[in-house]
Amino acid sequence: MKVTFIVNGVERQADPSPGTSLMDVLRGLGVTSVKNGCDNGDCGSCAVLLNGRAVNACLVFAARCGGAEITTLEGMASEGALHALQASMLETGAVQCGFCTPGIVMTAADLLGRIPSPTDRQIDEAMAGNFCRCTGYTKPRQAIQAAAEMLKEASGD
Ligand code: FES
Ligand code: FES
Repeated sequence: MKVTFIVNGVERQADPSPGTSLMDVLRGLGVTSVKNGCDNGDCGSCAVLLNGRAVNACLVFAARCGGAEITTLEGMASEGALHALQASMLETGAVQCGFCTPGIVMTAADLLGRIPSPTDRQIDEAMAGNFCRCTGYTKPRQAIQAAAEMLKEASGD
């Protein structure tokens, strides 16, 4: 079934079989920040924004994404500048092997879109489905708080 969707602002087309996941289709299109950690909805490494909300792309049928707007880590930087979440993840040392990082950034982008000044508890709840085997969760939490501050300053709030 042919589908057309927007990936990071660019129209893309795919022809997935009915059971093919959005994760596999995106990776097949070269969008390799979308990581396959479990293929089962458990780890969050495949998280993307689907029409503005974070989803585990391994649990979404690509065939149902016609007309959707999809944002992945590749679409977060603008004009060569890292997004605040990307920069803060690097600056706080929240990136080690980096396998979980794209999913964390995308889940956090969803969170900060809804809650610009989250509490630590709200961050922990939002990140409950994102597993990191290297850093633990303190540094990613610090990074998300730092990004929230940077985004607030940039917006003048
Ligand atoms: S690969 Fe999708 S949640 Fe783990
Ligand atoms: S940095 Fe390695 S799994 Fe998170």
